[in-house]
Amino acid sequence: MPWIQLRLNADEETAEKYSDWLSACGAQAVTFIDAKDTPIYEPLPGDEVIYWSNTIVMGLYDASYDMDKVLRYLKSIHPDGDNMRYKLEQIEDKDWEREWMDNFHPMKFGQRLWICPSWREVPEPDAVNVMLDPGLAFGTGTHPTTALCLTWLDSLDLSDKTVVDFGCGSGILSLAALKLGAKKVIGIDIDPQALQASKENAKRNGVEDRLELYLPKDQPQLTADVVVANILAGPLRELAPTIMAFVGDKGLLALSGVLETQAEELQSLYGNWCEMEPVTVQEEWVRLSGRRK
Ligand SMILES: C[S@@+](CC[C@H](N)C(=O)[O-])C[C@H]1O[C@@H](n2cnc3c(N)ncnc32)[C@H](O)[C@@H]1O
Repeated sequence: MPWIQLRLNADEETAEKYSDWLSACGAQAVTFIDAKDTPIYEPLPGDEVIYWSNTIVMGLYDASYDMDKVLRYLKSIHPDGDNMRYKLEQIEDKDWEREWMDNFHPMKFGQRLWICPSWREVPEPDAVNVMLDPGLAFGTGTHPTTALCLTWLDSLDLSDKTVVDFGCGSGILSLAALKLGAKKVIGIDIDPQALQASKENAKRNGVEDRLELYLPKDQPQLTADVVVANILAGPLRELAPTIMAFVGDKGLLALSGVLETQAEELQSLYGNWCEMEPVTVQEEWVRLSGRRK
């Protein structure tokens, strides 16, 4: 399938903002590239995220997308207006994959957990390594909302625990939980393509026999020791009773996909069921976590 790739020139000040713009304008995937081959490692807690001074932000769009409309909108909000620097190109699947391959590096989360693309050398063979290649389902570890959940999972003792991954996307959190010792993970997603991606990624990691995948309409009734949900604030608000129904007695919960400005309301809502901890912030995103009372 052909794709259209839109490249915007950015720097460390603007890269994150432009990435959000491209996502808001319908990009199926957004990535950053640097002129030099500088690896990006997940920052330690408290460290600032560093973007390259000469960054290109790339958004990937379905070839049928109305790019004139996207460009009109971007120019209307870009500081350079009609002089906005961009490049639009049509690419084939293979070229897109190769581009990602050149720019996707192993990333470490917390103390033990690595997410490694299959074509790179595994930096710490004795660590907990999830092999994951970028695909069209959300979740490679490069987004702060995913990173916040991966770091949280790494901090838990998951041995023998049952985990629910609500909004599993690529399956990245499910795979991490399984590799960190969980007995079983139930992944749920509204998007059938995400369930397919999760299944394939689980096979690649040899954990498919411990991962169950469901569309919301088929989701089982059960309680888990640990529930993680990286979806946006709106669904987290609406789905609060559904999500809480999965959290067992004294079970642990983490919620991500929430902006700092939205945290207080959700903290108070989920506080009806859970003893909530102080939020953890990465860039403008926060992770809420707690334990069922
Ligand atoms: C931000 S992605 C998170 C993917 C992955 N868990 C991660 O942490 O990177 C959110 C996922 O939630 C799914 N989703 C959105 N609304 C949902 C809903 N109401 N029920 C289940 N899944 C939903 C989306 O299809 C998407 O795959």
